[in-house]
Amino acid sequence: MRILRSHSFRVSISDSKVGLRHIVTRCRAVVLPRFGGPEVLELRPNVEVPDLKPNEVLVRTRAVSINPLDTRMRSGYGRSIFGPLLPLILGRDISGEVAAVGASVRGLTVGQEVFGALHPTAVRGTYADYAILSEDELAPKPASVTHVEASAIPFAALTAWRALKGTARIAEGQRLLVVGGGGAVGFSAIQLAVAARCHVTTTCGSQSIDRVLAAGAEQAVDYTAEDIALTIKGKFDAVLDTIGGPETERISISFLKKGGHYMTLQGEAASLTDRYGIVIGLPIATAVLLKKQIQYRSSHGIEYWWTFMRADSEGLDEIRRLSDAGKLNIPVEKTFPISQVREAHEAKEKKQIHGKVVLELD
Ligand SMILES: NC(=O)c1ccc[n+]([C@@H]2O[C@H](COP(=O)([O-])OP(=O)(O)OC[C@H]3O[C@@H](n4cnc5c(N)ncnc54)[C@H](OP(=O)(O)O)[C@@H]3O)[C@@H](O)[C@H]2O)c1
Repeated sequence: MRILRSHSFRVSISDSKVGLRHIVTRCRAVVLPRFGGPEVLELRPNVEVPDLKPNEVLVRTRAVSINPLDTRMRSGYGRSIFGPLLPLILGRDISGEVAAVGASVRGLTVGQEVFGALHPTAVRGTYADYAILSEDELAPKPASVTHVEASAIPFAALTAWRALKGTARIAEGQRLLVVGGGGAVGFSAIQLAVAARCHVTTTCGSQSIDRVLAAGAEQAVDYTAEDIALTIKGKFDAVLDTIGGPETERISISFLKKGGHYMTLQGEAASLTDRYGIVIGLPIATAVLLKKQIQYRSSHGIEYWWTFMRADSEGLDEIRRLSDAGKLNIPVEKTFPISQVREAHEAKEKKQIHGKVVLELD
């Protein structure tokens, strides 16, 4: 038996014929007892840590980044799904060390530094001293970056990966338009597409122009100062629209070649189920999507998609490789200790901090 000591309690790891079993029973976690503003977040000292399933990994958290999904979930987005499951723990991204592994985990070992992201609908999130993820949601942390830097990457980069590789299946030489290349998902998409030898054009704010060009975008259009529809030239094989409003959708579609892919991150499945409940809202969402797909196929000859983040171990491995090679990063603007999670959410929501915010767990 090996005993690891954490700052607040004891963690025991025991070998058995089937693998390693953890007996961490409680830890600190940021709990969301009800939907609301940042003030509803509670850092509790004694939150239960469930037993590990065979494919799961217990991670001692070092850093978690704040994604827009965290602040949206906190205020009630997805309430049709999450409402009955309250209280829940927010947080998707993580970087930390493996504290224990389930019986069937083969690729990760105790003590190893890892990073990864939970599925968007996970109920026990990563704002906790100990988080549980399945093995395929984790990969070894890129050695060249810190926990803080690593924690900013997985959720955003996997969202971009799913759209570009899983949906549009981008290939060398193709042209990609990224609407919102200054954000975490858009910036990841630029870097993934450049690594795949695609030609990238992007829209972003003036403060992001130098960064997106340095990452390999061939054209960066300032959406605050220029008319996107007039400035961007030529047609594209795919558009990733991270903003997904009616205006960006209309312009994006007009830039696509026949057979091209329009992908928005603002699919309406969650908002429609919130409005009508799961039983009625989900079929409505399916119908809305199908209608748009049929309409755009016949009017413009293009493929229309709502894309969502999904865990993908192959994608995460590639993201780690690119990060280690210095070809994929997401700049972190500010860090907060986990004890200041309310302040961090408030700063993000009020747009007082422009870029990525990371919570650190000592
Ligand atoms: N469907 C999914 O599974 C999924 C997954 C992840 C994220 N999302 C959603 O995708 C969106 C982006 O996520 P994120 O993590 O990248 O957020 P983020 O890092 O906060 O980025 C947002 C960026 O959007 C840019 N922006 C705002 N208005 C714009 C416009 N009109 N044109 C171009 N750029 C504009 C700003 O860029 P500048 O700094 O350059 O001004 C801002 O930095 C969020 O709404 C999020 O909820 C969905």
